[in-house]
Amino acid sequence: MPANPALDAASPAVPAEAVTPLIRGVAVLHRLTEADGTLSLSALERATGLARSTVDRVTSTLARMGYVRLDGRDAVLTPRLMELGNAYLAALRLPALLDARADALADELDESVSLAVADRDGIRFIHQATRRRAMSLSFRIGDLLPAERTAPGPLFATEWTKEQWQAWRERRAADPEDHGFPAVPPRQSPYPDEDFERSAAQSAADGWALDDQLIEPGLVAVSVPVRDPRTGRIACAANVVSHTSRHTAADLRDSLLPRLRAAVRAMEDDLRTTAPAEPGASPSGLATWTGASKQELGREFVESLARGLTVLTAFGEGRAELTLTEVAKATGLARATARRALITYEHLGLVRARDRVFELTPRVLALGFPPLSRVSLPEIAAPHMAELARRVHESTSLAVLSGDDIQYTARVATSRVMSVNVAVGTRLPAYATSMGRVLLADLPPSDRRLPLPLRALTPHTLTDPETLAGLLDDVRTQGHALVDEELEEGLRSIAVPVRDRTGRAVAALNVAMHAARHTVEECVREILPALRATADAIEGELQVAGRFTRVPVS
Ligand code: PHB
Repeated sequence: MPANPALDAASPAVPAEAVTPLIRGVAVLHRLTEADGTLSLSALERATGLARSTVDRVTSTLARMGYVRLDGRDAVLTPRLMELGNAYLAALRLPALLDARADALADELDESVSLAVADRDGIRFIHQATRRRAMSLSFRIGDLLPAERTAPGPLFATEWTKEQWQAWRERRAADPEDHGFPAVPPRQSPYPDEDFERSAAQSAADGWALDDQLIEPGLVAVSVPVRDPRTGRIACAANVVSHTSRHTAADLRDSLLPRLRAAVRAMEDDLRTTAPAEPGASPSGLATWTGASKQELGREFVESLARGLTVLTAFGEGRAELTLTEVAKATGLARATARRALITYEHLGLVRARDRVFELTPRVLALGFPPLSRVSLPEIAAPHMAELARRVHESTSLAVLSGDDIQYTARVATSRVMSVNVAVGTRLPAYATSMGRVLLADLPPSDRRLPLPLRALTPHTLTDPETLAGLLDDVRTQGHALVDEELEEGLRSIAVPVRDRTGRAVAALNVAMHAARHTVEECVREILPALRATADAIEGELQVAGRFTRVPVS
């Protein structure tokens, strides 16, 4: 059964020029997203109706692109896939301009605040500042909800055409329980069409709308439209979400709506006063890259899928509307190839064409964003750490700075070289560990607090603060720290920083080994390059994931 019967039934016949492998690749990404990011290859075969050999080739290609990881029999979405949704969010520009205001409002009210855009007859979230206290569902960036069961829905419906109202009625008739919207529980009680038509009319008069437990008992929300100052149309809706244990819907309207409206006025001012976006960098060398992969992987690499997917990344900040020529130029693809990909995307509802220009639709977020937008740094790091441990046959750990200590956030152990069992959560003094030194070295010297006097943990521990300060400067320039039996006798470890988009070292990654197994020189010559490459891979994914979401470091 197609996952969204209403939408699939409504889609027109496949255009003759559509690229079949691209349709299949997108179907695989949709199914993986609906399955929260992981499916076995045989489950994918069933969910997509594709032949096993096709599933294998599609997933190999996606793996080569770094969008999927093959883990035994499973295909798993990777955070790099978020670059597709990022292209949409960057082109849209609203997150860059409004997220901070939404976050500030959530802090001020101590309630969840979200931003949503219209997506056909549904609403799709583009931002979540979540304060939810585990009493109700909480939605993720990219989740799609049926308009009539939300607060922003009636606001968007005030702009619907006759055809859109008709499409909405048809969808409701075809899917009365909302199975096409996996993010919401099935509709229980009937909600007559007239009720939504009435609330749309009411919201047009009021300028706000309420959701009084339309999604599930207890969940309430109030929404206000944020209007595009150039067109006067609704750019997105800002929502305050609560629970009836704290606010009834009426109470939300009386006590929180005024503050939501004030925040929306400030958002609209921001939209009015911000200069148009400067075009960001376009992807480079993609056509060459796909050619090389084809050479290497042969039949297992579906070049038309890889090329087609790169078309989405041509869009971005200041590149919201592109002509065919611009897409071809940005991707390095032949015009005919770019054109067929765009026709395919238009058919799939991922691209909209208007007067010779193309733009991405919110549905691009359905390619991985909901499950991936909640990923943490330890989750990003885990598969890369497992690979590193396999390669170097030593244990590897990830840690963050916490006061004077480091705290372990992930670990892959191959052997037990330390006398203490360093489980996730373990704290060790930062000054005497390689990960701690990497993290201290990243701080401005005035912020590098040391717990004086420094205690000698072994006869080798560096305890002179001056010497340590000099050493931290060296660590900063070298980009790694090596600690030799200073924490524990017989234990040697080497660490490098893991940096976020701003360049800050948010975590450190190490390899720890018995001193007898590698000399210091071997450690630098043999382990460090693999360690650095692993940190680079983690950073790459962290930086893609962290563009529009906050990635927890622990
Ligand atoms: C949410 O942001 O989770 C949300 C927004 C509007 C609703 C319900 C939930 O009507």
